[in-house]
Amino acid sequence: MDTQLTYGMVGGAIDSMIGESHRNAILLDGRAKIVSGCFSRDFKKTLQTGKEWKIRRERLYKDYQEMIRVESKKKPKIDFVVIATPNVSHYKIAKAFLENGINVVCEKPLTTSLKEAEELKDLANKQDLLFCVTYSYTGFPIIQEAKKMIQSGEIGTIRMINAQYLQGWLAEPVENENKQAQWRLDPSQSGLANTTADIGSHVENMISYLTEKEIESLCAILDAFVKSRKLEDNSIVMVNFKDGSRGIYFMSQIAIGEKNNFNFSLYGSKGTLKWDLQEANTIKIFFEDSLKLIKKEEEILEGTNAGFKNTYSLFITDLINKKNGKKINNNNSNFQSVIAGVRGMKFIEKCIESTKKGSSWVKF
Ligand SMILES: NC(=O)c1ccc[n+]([C@@H]2O[C@H](COP(=O)([O-])OP(=O)(O)OC[C@H]3O[C@@H](n4cnc5c(N)ncnc54)[C@H](O)[C@@H]3O)[C@@H](O)[C@H]2O)c1
Repeated sequence: MDTQLTYGMVGGAIDSMIGESHRNAILLDGRAKIVSGCFSRDFKKTLQTGKEWKIRRERLYKDYQEMIRVESKKKPKIDFVVIATPNVSHYKIAKAFLENGINVVCEKPLTTSLKEAEELKDLANKQDLLFCVTYSYTGFPIIQEAKKMIQSGEIGTIRMINAQYLQGWLAEPVENENKQAQWRLDPSQSGLANTTADIGSHVENMISYLTEKEIESLCAILDAFVKSRKLEDNSIVMVNFKDGSRGIYFMSQIAIGEKNNFNFSLYGSKGTLKWDLQEANTIKIFFEDSLKLIKKEEEILEGTNAGFKNTYSLFITDLINKKNGKKINNNNSNFQSVIAGVRGMKFIEKCIESTKKGSSWVKF
């Protein structure tokens, strides 16, 4: 495949949790090449990452402001920037790249408030730029197949949804020795929420993408079971959808023994559709007396997963088509855009509002 596009990255240094997944996913797609970056707040780490990823020294920057100053003057400019920093800086970094005419791919949760998220959506649309949010699990090709099956009526009308995302890595107060835990549990870096934002955002996005159901109201209980914490490590959310169906979302990071257990069941009037991240390329559909298995062939991917790879393939295809004159924007894109990011932020804010009101039901 021809490498047609170039990109830069902010955050995501080689010692980060998610930077390599982005870079490897784009490498596997094969149509975009990394040419610049400010991968860390520590310039030594940026240099180290740049060396490893074979980026020219003069396109490695001490901070993202310098990166924008220099990169926005280049002809041609980079086609897009990937933002993989802790949540609190997504807004200001994305805003600055959009203002300088560069398309954005940003990690979830999009920002730390709904207001900031809406501002980014308006700015991207005003600038006619594409803005992808990497809700990587909806990228799995099998999830797109599941969506088609739901739309074709395979399981009938979905009446009840049970979705869980469970981890155990925050069961103890590990904040002092684990840098990923440190910023996630610090409101000045993470924002208003921890578990609901970190993994609840994936649950909200998955169910919303698959079913296209709109939330009418929700009732949330956010707890910090490790008492020293300012942000929650466990999150339970009951959801009423506008069509009369209901959902229960359970997100936990104190669930000892759970590594990265994301699964859901959609209970319809004709059957039940189940997916589990442990078998990410398989969908199970249960009927009263039978079981239908739908499998996608498993690809062996180095340092990323099929969800990330396909998230980028969808984005890059849309971006190339747009460059070739097709009318593609954040409303009609095949990738998960800033619009999904805004909805995710609303979900987080409503969960906090409900918890503050003694876990009462709040309108969405
Ligand atoms: N989509 C997913 O499945 C997924 C998985 C993990 C993390 N994430 C998201 O990715 C983001 C990063 O999470 P992580 O776990 O990789 O964090 P991390 O702490 O491992 O890495 C963050 C990196 O950003 C750098 N950084 C921070 N501020 C910066 C700045 N102003 N300029 C340049 N670099 C800066 C840090 O030095 C570090 O290298 C978060 O928003 C998180 O929610 C998404």
